[in-house]
Amino acid sequence: MGTETARKNGDTVFLSLDLLRRRGWIAALLALLAVAASLAWSLFLATPRFTSETSLIIMQKGAALQDYNTLLLNQTLTQTYAEIARGHAVLQQVIQDLDLDHNHAEGHASHPTLTPAELSRRVSVTAIKGTQIIRLRVSDTDPASAQRLAAETAAAFTARVRALMKVDNVQVIDPASLPSSHDYPRPILNALLAAVLGLAFGLALIFLLAHLDNTLRTTDDVAKHFGLPVLGIIPTITSTDAIMVVSKQPRSTAAEAFRMLATNLRFVGLDRPLKTILVTSSVPGEGKSFTALNLATALAQTGRKVLLIDADLRQPAIHRYGGLWNEGLGLTVALTSQEEGMRDVFAQPTEVENLHILTSGPIPPNPVELLGSSRMATLIERLEAQYDLLIIDGPPVLVAADASVLSTYADGCLLVVRSGLTKTPLATRGLETLRQVKAKTLGAVLDAVGGAEKGYRHYDRYHYYHYYEARAGRHRKGQGSDRVEGSGSGAAAPPPRGP
Ligand SMILES: Nc1ncnc2c1ncn2[C@@H]1O[C@H](COP(=O)(O)OP(=O)(O)OP(=O)(O)O)[C@@H](O)[C@H]1O
Ligand SMILES: [Mg+2]
Repeated sequence: MGTETARKNGDTVFLSLDLLRRRGWIAALLALLAVAASLAWSLFLATPRFTSETSLIIMQKGAALQDYNTLLLNQTLTQTYAEIARGHAVLQQVIQDLDLDHNHAEGHASHPTLTPAELSRRVSVTAIKGTQIIRLRVSDTDPASAQRLAAETAAAFTARVRALMKVDNVQVIDPASLPSSHDYPRPILNALLAAVLGLAFGLALIFLLAHLDNTLRTTDDVAKHFGLPVLGIIPTITSTDAIMVVSKQPRSTAAEAFRMLATNLRFVGLDRPLKTILVTSSVPGEGKSFTALNLATALAQTGRKVLLIDADLRQPAIHRYGGLWNEGLGLTVALTSQEEGMRDVFAQPTEVENLHILTSGPIPPNPVELLGSSRMATLIERLEAQYDLLIIDGPPVLVAADASVLSTYADGCLLVVRSGLTKTPLATRGLETLRQVKAKTLGAVLDAVGGAEKGYRHYDRYHYYHYYEARAGRHRKGQGSDRVEGSGSGAAAPPPRGP
């Protein structure tokens, strides 16, 4: 149980890191935009404000020498004075003294009129704790006006305190300063805040998008939605001329992944050895032909006689991928040929030992009819007798009935799911369609995982490890016999090239 929780936590961390690796640029871009906007606002749009500061000390009559209690009392009173300084009467007095209420013509351009409420927003009063000192701060768009306002507020306050509290000893310690630089806006502080907010918003957006994203990406997604074992995790291949990756680049990670898929098929076919396997998917372009071709190659390399049949009579691709001839031969020609014995000779040998390919042949107008014909059933029977394994590259399940028809010839189907592209609802419908025709789905192949081979390696090891761990666990509980030894690292030994 503890191991399971740790595994789930590990998965979450890994998936979050993977998400950040793929989508982190969104957060970085938002942070950058926020910083740029904040700097533009600070430097070009915001009106700078200057703050003048003045401090006052308030002492009771003849209080040169004070006992401790008087001192405490005075300190408490300082709070009261601070409130007085903020009060309406003082501010009104300042406005009157500086003639800021109605004298537009002669008033200062920076504040032609000012109400006590407006002024109070610009005045801040602090009673400095543990002292009898009050600090007044007043801000304005003009430094000289700020200074004038601060000095006048101090004067009005002194007069008010004297009148109200009969305190005669209010002294200015620091006269109102003339600010040399503005203290608002603060471009660097604002930019830092914008960066943090932009980043936080970006991260929230990434995780929200991931939450709303209904594409399948990981083995966990496949397991969660379909309860299917993922028999192969095929990385994205970077080189476009490496379609036949298993035969052309046998040492690549992708080739290793296909060999692993071939090995895994042995384990799902324990009860009844698989003779004919249909490779299909829910929608077009998920990597069926790529998978079928390379899986067939990997299986042939284990020494078994393999025939790959391109039964996608709508978008055949195997002849293109394998560089093979497709005129006057292939599946459709074999099916329509009148000569009984000729039907199976349309398969072509390839440069991979033990691998023959039956290309599609010319595209017929009635694929379903052709694929569902008794001739097709007979052909498959004959070919099964001649080969150890038939791999059928089929069309997508949701496009036409072809794949459903083909599944009736197969001992099991492999559902190709293209990571980051296959939508969960479509794959669900595809799987449902296969179930309706009672096709046996062996498992899924997750294709085009990860952008870079480097990133994939980690992914590969990580997920295979868990897959095998789960299998091993099941077997320990169940039969306890066929535990997969030594495959956990994803390093299925390169097979011998034929007997
Ligand atoms: N792992 C991968 N890395 C990079 N490219 C891939 C990968 N898998 C498939 N592709 C590319 O995606 C395209 C579609 O692949 P493929 O033809 O195998 O899909 P398909 O499911 O057979 O499509 P269709 O439904 O048309 O038959 C091809 O160009 C192929 O090279
Ligand atoms: Mg195809």
